[in-house]
Amino acid sequence: MAVEWGEYLSVGVARIDDQHKEIFRRINALMDAINEGDGATQVIEAIKFLENYTVTHFADEEGLMAETCYSVLGPHRKEHEKFCMDVQLLKQRITTEGTTKMNILKTSQALISWLVQHILATDKALAAHLSSTWNNKAEEETT
Ligand SMILES: [Fe+2]
Ligand SMILES: [Fe+2]
Repeated sequence: MAVEWGEYLSVGVARIDDQHKEIFRRINALMDAINEGDGATQVIEAIKFLENYTVTHFADEEGLMAETCYSVLGPHRKEHEKFCMDVQLLKQRITTEGTTKMNILKTSQALISWLVQHILATDKALAAHLSSTWNNKAEEETT
């Protein structure tokens, strides 16, 4: 059951879209590890693989928000922190409960739902702000 990035998730900023596509690739690697019944060590490796990239991606978005004086940087960052905390909890659960439990799959699916909702609402709003800021800057530079 692959979770695909689709055009409906495009925020219109290529750099952010490309990073989101990579996150989906890494979520699929995690889901594959769970579905194939891999052991806890392998599943945790797949989670770390996802985590490393999301940390980089969140830092990149937060850098763009700071650079462009985005007024809702704080709430957006809080959403990122929530995702990071949920990933930590998932790792803890796998360590204590193993990977065979259905709730591990459910928690992973909850991460995907979070990601889709976050992209559709929060990241699209950020991308609209970035596009208008960059357009205004480009206009100023040509006038
Ligand atoms: Fe974000
Ligand atoms: Fe994002």
